[in-house]
Amino acid sequence: MKIFLDTSNIDEIKSAYNTGMIDGVTTNPSLIAKEGKDFKEVINEIVEIFKDTKDTSISAEVISTNAQEMIKEAKELVKIHKFIVIKVPIIPEGIIAIKELSNQGIKTNATLCFSANQALLAAKAGATYVSPFLGRLDDIGVSSLDLIKEIRTIYDNFDFKTEILSASIRSVDQVSQVASLGSDIITLPPKIFKEMFKHDLTDKGLAAFLKDWEELQNKLDK
Ligand code: E4P
Repeated sequence: MKIFLDTSNIDEIKSAYNTGMIDGVTTNPSLIAKEGKDFKEVINEIVEIFKDTKDTSISAEVISTNAQEMIKEAKELVKIHKFIVIKVPIIPEGIIAIKELSNQGIKTNATLCFSANQALLAAKAGATYVSPFLGRLDDIGVSSLDLIKEIRTIYDNFDFKTEILSASIRSVDQVSQVASLGSDIITLPPKIFKEMFKHDLTDKGLAAFLKDWEELQNKLDK
């Protein structure tokens, strides 16, 4: 399963990239706004971090709501680098844009997916990725894990190639949960990515090993 980082913060991306565990990055207008910098400047900085990577995926979102405008924006964004994937909201105009971009060989990430039917449309339109938003569904009391299960079944039934990119992640437990349901990718806020490495028993176990080792060295030195 691929792991993407869900942030536009350059320092966080650099530090996570150095672990060797990060396969891509997702951004959205809110995440870009949080950094208070120019959109293209941020995207260029992210591309720079991944410059030695053979293949990665950096999602940059369009802000138009009209298909032709979305396509125009997409064509400008893909000029930045071959790693750029165009994030398009699943609205009727967005589906038209995804279909056209996919016909032109431009990779897309169908975003703001909250239902299996939306995921079905995204796949029919030829989206590279579909991004179901787990946290926002759970916030309104709808089981996001059931949605992942349903999308996986539909995509497998019809052999759709669109990859499921689980997004809007709120807890570290959701990582293994969506992995066991067959999500192809997960995009994680840096804080949750860091939590993946942690377990209290690992820390306690390591402390005990090191202490016992030191005691043995002290005994042998005497
Ligand atoms: C990523 O593709 C999404 O834009 C992001 O995961 C949304 O997360 P949020 O619901 O925490 O804003």
